[in-house]
Amino acid sequence: MSGYDEIGGAGSVKAVVAVLYQRVLGDPDLIDYFREVDLDRLKAHQRAFLTQALGGPDLFAGRSMAEAHAGLDITDASFDALLEHLLITLHDLGVPDHVVAGVRGAIEPLRAEVVSARPAPVDH
Ligand code: HEM
Repeated sequence: MSGYDEIGGAGSVKAVVAVLYQRVLGDPDLIDYFREVDLDRLKAHQRAFLTQALGGPDLFAGRSMAEAHAGLDITDASFDALLEHLLITLHDLGVPDHVVAGVRGAIEPLRAEVVSARPAPVDH
């Protein structure tokens, strides 16, 4: 059974998104990415992020992940920050540890497609 089915499918995803969304809006390191995005789209984003993380149905047959995030200058640190918010939210809502553990493994492979900001050059 996928983590998605185990936590109760679409209804539970909606509940998790409500909490995750508040966390992301309250995080000064993340809010700039989403400032131009309207709130319904932001919720849709969180839903896609979470459903993907839980191994649920593919919600976005359209653009590839790389295309969707191209030009957004997403950093490794902000990728980590969003993932951490998700893991903490799931834990706080009582999602079993083995499901939370699976989430990191499901999201991590997408890092290369989502992160596009080049690291700052090192001074020699
Ligand atoms: C692996 C994790 C992620 C998944 C599964 C995911 C999912 C998606 C999807 C499906 C879209 C396309 C929406 C559309 O075309 O309508 C999108 C766009 C976007 N993503 Fe992500 N995302 C992830 C990580 C991130 C991160 C780490 C950030 C920023 C910190 C981010 C910021 C955005 C923004 C700003 C958009 C454009 C939103 C819009 O205009 O609607 N995403 N993401």
